[in-house]
Amino acid sequence: MDKIAILTSGGDAPGMNSAIRAATRKAIYEGLEVFGVKRGFSGLIDGDFLPLERRSVADIVHKGGTMLLSARCEEFKTEEGMQKALAQMKKQGIGGIICIGGDGTMRGVNDIATKLDFPAVGVPASIDNDMPGTDYAIGFDTAMNTILDSVDRIRDTATSHERTFIIETMGRHAGFLTLGAGLAGGAESILIPEVDFSIEEVANKVKSGYERGKLHSIVMVAEGVGENFKTNRDLNQSNAFRLGEAISEKTGLETRVIILGHLQRGGKPTARDRILGSRLGARAVDKLIAGVTNQMVSCQNGGLSEIDIPEMLSSSKDIEQDMYDLAQILSI
Ligand code: F6P
Repeated sequence: MDKIAILTSGGDAPGMNSAIRAATRKAIYEGLEVFGVKRGFSGLIDGDFLPLERRSVADIVHKGGTMLLSARCEEFKTEEGMQKALAQMKKQGIGGIICIGGDGTMRGVNDIATKLDFPAVGVPASIDNDMPGTDYAIGFDTAMNTILDSVDRIRDTATSHERTFIIETMGRHAGFLTLGAGLAGGAESILIPEVDFSIEEVANKVKSGYERGKLHSIVMVAEGVGENFKTNRDLNQSNAFRLGEAISEKTGLETRVIILGHLQRGGKPTARDRILGSRLGARAVDKLIAGVTNQMVSCQNGGLSEIDIPEMLSSSKDIEQDMYDLAQILSI
């Protein structure tokens, strides 16, 4: 193998650039030629390759987003799309590929490795942190800190007006971001898809908090909570707005709603995400050189690790229940 390709796919995550930089420079150090693929799997289909030299990845380690651009690609899920991608890689003389992204990206790695029989390794990067086989995905720490910064700011104004705020966070179907930022930010209630709750209880907690002398109430709700508290009014409204209305109705208190949205995905990566991106990007190169395929490099129990992608795709990742329970206790 003389040449490798690197792509980023799915939702961008802060720290992806560190992984691109590390994979590029480690590969060059090992004597390989490197190509970046623009716009994830769609760039692979179109043959949108960018030669990466050691200086091509200068000045990106501190930047959020991905210098290679990202996309969600439906065509790559078809046999025809995959064959086009294979032909492009062969034409370029590429012998292995590193794909950086979330679980959708790992499904792509699995397809490249099994259906195209082409060497492919995955690097976990997703603010959602919902990927089994790794304690942390690149981007999670930065996003959690961004949320925390927002919670701290909202708390200032919430206290000044003795108000209740509902803060909706990302995470798709998972509550890791909400739970982490909720515990760190001292939220009164944390509502995540993994744990059932009743609006009645949330409303009572808000009310009794004020009765005990609290000056504000912060309710954090994960975007994936969905069905748990559907009212039969406007089902298209976001979770946070429906929840805010329901709490107002039940408590007679005013509520304010904030949807943090995509600001959670941008920004300067934390040191932790830069270090993780650097270590995992370099490790992915080692894997390809060693002839490994269809694995995701990862971190577990404080050290580097890996998981076979079929195993990763058929597993699920649980929240740490003790963290949830502790957050409940600490919000009395
Ligand atoms: O997977 C990352 C993520 O930011 C999720 O938290 C969110 O649900 C989704 O992507 C949003 O996707 P898009 O940027 O395509 O709207």
